[in-house]
Amino acid sequence: MCVSNFTKQLAVDSGICRLMHDLGSALTSTDTIYMLGGGNPAHIPEVEQALKQAMRCILESPGRFAHMIGDYDPPHGNRVFARTLADLLSEHYWPVKPENIALTHGSQSAFFGLFNMLAGSFSDGTQRKILLPLIPEYIGYSDLGLEPDLFVSAIPTIEHLDGHLFKYHVDFDRIESALKQQTMGAICVSRPTNPTGNVLTNHEIQTLSTLASHYQIPLIIDNAYGLPFPGIIYEDAELVWNEHTILCLSLSKLGLPGTRTGIVIAHEDHIEALSRINAIVSLAPGGVGAALATELIQTGQMMTLSQTVVRPYYQRKCEHAVHTLCQALEGQPFYLHKPQGAFFLWLWLPELRIPAQQLYERLKARGVIVVPGEYFFPGLKEPWSHTTQCLRISYAQEDAIVEQGMAILAQEITKAQAV
Ligand SMILES: Cc1ncc(COP(=O)(O)O)c(C=O)c1O
Repeated sequence: MCVSNFTKQLAVDSGICRLMHDLGSALTSTDTIYMLGGGNPAHIPEVEQALKQAMRCILESPGRFAHMIGDYDPPHGNRVFARTLADLLSEHYWPVKPENIALTHGSQSAFFGLFNMLAGSFSDGTQRKILLPLIPEYIGYSDLGLEPDLFVSAIPTIEHLDGHLFKYHVDFDRIESALKQQTMGAICVSRPTNPTGNVLTNHEIQTLSTLASHYQIPLIIDNAYGLPFPGIIYEDAELVWNEHTILCLSLSKLGLPGTRTGIVIAHEDHIEALSRINAIVSLAPGGVGAALATELIQTGQMMTLSQTVVRPYYQRKCEHAVHTLCQALEGQPFYLHKPQGAFFLWLWLPELRIPAQQLYERLKARGVIVVPGEYFFPGLKEPWSHTTQCLRISYAQEDAIVEQGMAILAQEITKAQAV
């Protein structure tokens, strides 16, 4: 078959595609699968109740259901939702207008639009890149470029904390030299970070913002797990937005991945460009997530659910997962990234004698799905042994699954580290 460049670029066997397949097969498998892999959120009963109630209100108010299901929204997404969200953000954080808000089919497609809008070949002859200032970084970015080699990234510094804990920090010397050497189109970080659960400090974000404004490029903050919703963040962290920040939110991790709703808050020029991309690629974003979220915000439940249900739910699960894993790995050499948000543990095994990818295969053969670390280093050009020594483990599933999965994980790690 004669293959187009588009196919070569996008129809590839990517890490995110494997991960989504693992997720899908786990849901339909009749064998016992310990799903510590994909990024599916937990089914939290209180959240499901609130969503059902919101849906009932929509069904019962004249015209709302018909509009939600029977009309196309404009290409920048439902405007009632944009106004409702703008009011919420203006009340709690900083002034923002509905014109600064666009919706997309999940934030994954927002990144596809944004990265290809801001990086790649430009008419002035430049080849602009997306700078990822801190890797490991979200697996879903890696293959989003319509042109190859879209990312530049930098090895972080590692701070060892108490016990087995450590934390990555942005290495600003490397970042500044990358900014001097290549033309960047944007800087992008996930905060909380998938896969590590890191939350970049306010100072790190401030410094990145200053660098972005100096180089007149946007700072994209991927806030899929952050404030104000779903609020899966266990540290005090400031939510930042200004005219050179592109803040991306999602309804997925609150419990609505099925509605595919991403939210972008940005300068009007970026919103306009993104909505034109939406129109060409998919006419308009879906309206179901927007309608449910409007109801949750207007009744005040969005903030209460995030603060009093979702965050405590994951924080407890996080403590349980850390305790379980540390007990299971007692006596083994290992480090864990300090979990500050999202719902993953990032395990670093410096004495691992096989690549993490191979450990993943061994675990999969025993029914335990994790994500091998190799996928989380987009844009890295230098060799770094660390990339093959880490695993991402989700703790969103039921405690019993996490416990049994971790017991098998510890057995396989022990074998793979034995001298
Ligand atoms: C950091 C991060 N960004 C973006 C996404 C994409 O989410 P969605 O497209 O469901 O909004 C995910 C999903 O796992 C994620 O973890």
